[in-house]
Amino acid sequence: METSIAARTVRTTETGKAIYERRAVRKYKNTPVDRKLIEQVLDAGRMAPSAMNKQPWHFYVLTGKDTIQAFSREIAAIAMKGALSSGISGIKQVIKAAAGLLHFVHGINLHALKDPVFYEAPVVIFLTASRDNEWAPLDIGMCAQNIMLAARSVGLDSCPVGFGKFVVKTKIYSRLHVPDSEEVHLAIILGYGDESPKAHERARDNVLFID
Ligand SMILES: Cc1cc2nc3c(=O)[nH]c(=O)nc-3n(C[C@H](O)[C@H](O)[C@H](O)COP(=O)(O)O)c2cc1C
Repeated sequence: METSIAARTVRTTETGKAIYERRAVRKYKNTPVDRKLIEQVLDAGRMAPSAMNKQPWHFYVLTGKDTIQAFSREIAAIAMKGALSSGISGIKQVIKAAAGLLHFVHGINLHALKDPVFYEAPVVIFLTASRDNEWAPLDIGMCAQNIMLAARSVGLDSCPVGFGKFVVKTKIYSRLHVPDSEEVHLAIILGYGDESPKAHERARDNVLFID
């Protein structure tokens, strides 16, 4: 596919490189991520725009391998048991897509993995936002993208994990200490990738300029 001149120019900037090099990475090296680096990446998340500057986000960061695996298995078990029909608004499509990805694209058997949801990444961040904010899902999306691009710019890889929303249904959810006033929107995993997936082709027939 031909790349437009504008896209080529954007690609050569530091920001452009982070945007175009970022991939959903699902295999990680067993290398811990320095806490200061995690904090920097989260700070980039805080710099995202938010409706009425409400900054509704909160971050719950897991770095312990055992803890991550425990959450991963719990979430996978719930997803597999068909908790999808539990009626949590908006979650069904995400889970369906994620389950589809895991099973059909990657051919992964969830039960056979140590960490079926977080791919043995050394860092898992749950992003929550205040419930009383109708713009929170958009704000969280922007915040999440900032985090993932900042991660790429310092040599880290990431993957957004919609499955993370299921954490609320696990028996160990209370270990996160998320208050009732907040809703879990997404998890992001971070680490040093051990794979280099090719970029998925992007549909480019979705623009209409109106004079
Ligand atoms: C809201 C959202 C939820 C996602 N949930 C998952 C998930 O649960 N598991 C997973 O492996 N990938 C998940 N992904 C990653 C997407 O599959 C991935 O971004 C998409 O295939 C495009 O690939 P790319 O990120 O490498 O460009 C999610 C992405 C988004 C934006």
